[in-house]
Amino acid sequence: MLDVAESTKAVSRPTRGEALLELQELKAVSRPTQGEALLELRELKTIFAVGGKENCVVTGVSFSIAAGQTVALVGESGSGKSVTALSILRLFNRGDQVKLSGQALWRNRVGQVRDLLSLRPTDLQKIRGSEIGFVFQDPGASLNPVFTIGSQLRETLRLHQPEQDANQLAIQLLEDVGIADAQRRLKAYPHQLSGGMRQRVMLAITLACQPRLLIADEPTTALDVTIQAQMMSLLAELQSKYGMALLFITHDLGLVAQIADAVIVMYAGQIVEHGTVAQVIEQPQHPYTRALLACRPVRHYRDDGPDDRVMKPIEGRPPEVVGLLQGCRFAPRCQYQQEACHDHSIALQTIAEAQSVRCDRWRELS
Ligand SMILES: Nc1ncnc2c1ncn2[C@@H]1O[C@H](COP(=O)(O)OP(=O)(O)OP(=O)(O)O)[C@@H](O)[C@H]1O
Ligand SMILES: [Mg+2]
Repeated sequence: MLDVAESTKAVSRPTRGEALLELQELKAVSRPTQGEALLELRELKTIFAVGGKENCVVTGVSFSIAAGQTVALVGESGSGKSVTALSILRLFNRGDQVKLSGQALWRNRVGQVRDLLSLRPTDLQKIRGSEIGFVFQDPGASLNPVFTIGSQLRETLRLHQPEQDANQLAIQLLEDVGIADAQRRLKAYPHQLSGGMRQRVMLAITLACQPRLLIADEPTTALDVTIQAQMMSLLAELQSKYGMALLFITHDLGLVAQIADAVIVMYAGQIVEHGTVAQVIEQPQHPYTRALLACRPVRHYRDDGPDDRVMKPIEGRPPEVVGLLQGCRFAPRCQYQQEACHDHSIALQTIAEAQSVRCDRWRELS
């Protein structure tokens, strides 16, 4: 029987501060030159039909990612982050009734641009894993329960790096993602590992394919903060080594500030703000982005007593069905709403180089 408590120990653990410092240094040397887009989403729309009713959960999402760039996708639960990511590779369950429109233009290794949304399934299959890796939000569902993690890792390695010693590489990859006693862990079945370990194993399997873009859907939520920082610094290292781009979905705005080049904020299936980290985190323009930043669980101490800053949760809930909504989708919860916000749809406006915001009142509120 494997000892789960022991297995959560890292191979060698820097403190969170050290790891984040290392991460920032790595990011500094690996900042991408803003070249051609590796992936360009154009007006992506994803509609699910459930019980005869259609629900458009992603509505006209457009953004691009360049080689080596890290783009963070943030927003409340249910805002459409995972569906946006899954739509790129058409990773839906068999029973799902999904309609996709728009384009997801992918520049392959030989420079050809292909629309992933209209590619034949066999051609798309070749891109999944080898060119675009995906770490799912639920790591348990991605590992096969009847095979050891060693055999699952080795199988992937034999496919993608056949000339290498699969066993040795598997051990190396597990060590890279912070799993102690890697040789022994190779014999473990998924159910014998903790949730955080399964998440790291999934990341190791995905990295084994050396993808050019890694889509990571909340890959660090089940990890403790030191391992989380180690994982992020591992990702940054791989980015600088292989020029890997990263689409990172997270609720952790602190992490966004540390790792991302660009930030996309989603609300009710739409992008409401898009810009560089400095623009979005330090000078947010959309009331929703500001509200999200204000409900971060931060606690500061002052010399003269406890801090009076408190977390300010956003009142109300996001809409369940967005198709019938007119006007700004955030207006019902926005403290700055006016009548005009409700009567016409609001466009995403470019307000500065690389920055756009979906609010007609941004200028007077800034
Ligand atoms: N297979 C599906 N069939 C029907 N509706 C779905 C399906 N998957 C997701 N949805 C709906 O799409 C919307 C967006 O879901 P999504 O999983 O993208 O949210 P999210 O932003 O990733 O949230 P979280 O932060 O909780 O992961 C939700 O309203 C959800 O109920
Ligand atoms: Mg999600």
